Amino acid sequence: MAHSPVEALDPALRQTLARLGDEGWEMWARFDREVRSRRWHPFVPAEYDRVLVALAALRQPGLRFLEFGSATGIVTVMADLLGYEAYGIELDDALVTLARATAVRYSSGARFATGSFLPQGYVWRPRDSDGRLGTVGEGASGYLKLGKSLEDFDLVFAYPWHGEEAMMLDLLRNHGAPVAGLLLQCVSGEVQLFRKGRLERSWASPREAEHDAT
Ligand SMILES: C[S@@+](CC[C@H](N)C(=O)[O-])C[C@H]1O[C@@H](n2cnc3c(N)ncnc32)[C@H](O)[C@@H]1O
Repeated sequence: MAHSPVEALDPALRQTLARLGDEGWEMWARFDREVRSRRWHPFVPAEYDRVLVALAALRQPGLRFLEFGSATGIVTVMADLLGYEAYGIELDDALVTLARATAVRYSSGARFATGSFLPQGYVWRPRDSDGRLGTVGEGASGYLKLGKSLEDFDLVFAYPWHGEEAMMLDLLRNHGAPVAGLLLQCVSGEVQLFRKGRLERSWASPREAEHDAT
């Protein structure tokens, strides 16, 4: 039987990635208790093991990875440990501090910037609604701090709230590299890869087979 891309990883790396995921859930539990129980906050973590399967399947030497709204940095550090050149942009400065500490604990070169993943001047103009950004917050664009633009990335990951997927596809179509992939964990849990606005591949769960869209 074919191995999953995660099973094919070096055992020591798999162990480190499992520890990182566990730590991510502990950080989330603390954040939920200390912050979200007092006020609403948009940070809800992606299912790290599902995202890991997709990142392991898509990795190639030298790929540049960006996480939109990188929160505690778990997915970005995961990408770095898998060999991507990994960056995260997050609006909440307190979360960026936690993400940088995560990178240090895992001797990761992942880099984080406080700011918005929306490029300066970006306006979302959907045909069939009013262009409200949902839970996506506003702030100075984070790209300058990274010395990069959205166009510089090969793979972008986000865990959008329901209804925010179309804006992210629009963002990639208008400001991303022509062949860049957009990897989304949807609220259904499925992880989907889009390229040029089209669904290319999806991962239903770590144990289920992946599907190529045709
Ligand atoms: C649903 S959470 C996903 C967190 C993380 N990507 C994960 O999958 O575990 C969305 C994150 O995006 C951040 N965020 C919201 N608007 C943003 C913006 N315009 N620029 C950067 N980060 C933003 C929130 O603070 C939150 O941490």
